[in-house]
Amino acid sequence: MFTNDTLKGRTALITGGGTGIGLEIASAYARLGASVMLVGRNQERAQEAAEGLRRAGGQAAACRCDVRDYDQVTNAVAATLARFGALDILVNNAAGNFVCPSAELSPNGFRTVIDIDLNGTFHGCHAAHPHLKASRHGGSIISIITMRGVTGWPGAIHAACAKGGILSLSRTLAVEWGGDGIRVNTISPGPIADTEGVRRMYIESGKGPSEVGKTALGRWGRKADVANAAVFLASDLADYVTGANLIVDGGRWLKQAAD
Ligand code: HXC
Repeated sequence: MFTNDTLKGRTALITGGGTGIGLEIASAYARLGASVMLVGRNQERAQEAAEGLRRAGGQAAACRCDVRDYDQVTNAVAATLARFGALDILVNNAAGNFVCPSAELSPNGFRTVIDIDLNGTFHGCHAAHPHLKASRHGGSIISIITMRGVTGWPGAIHAACAKGGILSLSRTLAVEWGGDGIRVNTISPGPIADTEGVRRMYIESGKGPSEVGKTALGRWGRKADVANAAVFLASDLADYVTGANLIVDGGRWLKQAAD
């Protein structure tokens, strides 16, 4: 649906890019002309994913990085510059979480998820900022959150707080960095088929059918649905879009709020 040169000449760094939604976004970006750096804690998985994208004709590389560690994030940004010469798009997609009632969650469990999701996103934005500012296309930051960060998330207070924090972080940076030519947006996916989150939250517990019924569109989302939104936000088509939260959830949160 996008022309093949939609992202031509741009470089994207995608955290958690070796699997799932991150890899789907990387794959779409590479197909549409971008060079992509996949970063993840599992170097082998990220390398294999990058090789797959190269076999499909894309420009891709991989680098090990735990987003909790700012030095590793700055190294990943430096590796992107060294390999591709620029950084135009940052996708903060890396996430970690688990279901646990708040009363049973240890402080370290809470801190761990905040560290990966929220602090990791700040690290990415901070390390990328000078390079995004220097981008000849204008910089673009896209962070993957969820409307559960707005509505609250019983059973996942750590992720609710982290994702809500990323929304606020993104709106803050959209204003602060607008003058630097950097657009800052978020995407809120709903239940997306074939992802670790859906498997752990709904499939394993047998809640799949009832979860699908909670969406207005009555179906699981596809990873491509999220990738298409990420292409739009990274592209010139969204040149005047900043501080937005693009909800890609089949109408789930609205249906829950309206019912
Ligand atoms: C209760 C748990 C727990 C669980 C870990 N902890 N898992 N508490 N229930 N199921 C606690 C530990 O006991 C420990 O606290 C603290 O959390 C840190 O755990 P570690 O295992 O030492 O951390 P680490 O090895 O760094 O692993 C991080 C992780 C892990 C988030 C816990 O699950 C992970 O690496 N996940 C990455 C992949 C991932 O989660 N992807 C999901 C994306 S899907 P104590 O006090 O004992 O020291 C998605 C959609 C939603 O985002 C998914 C459903 C909510």
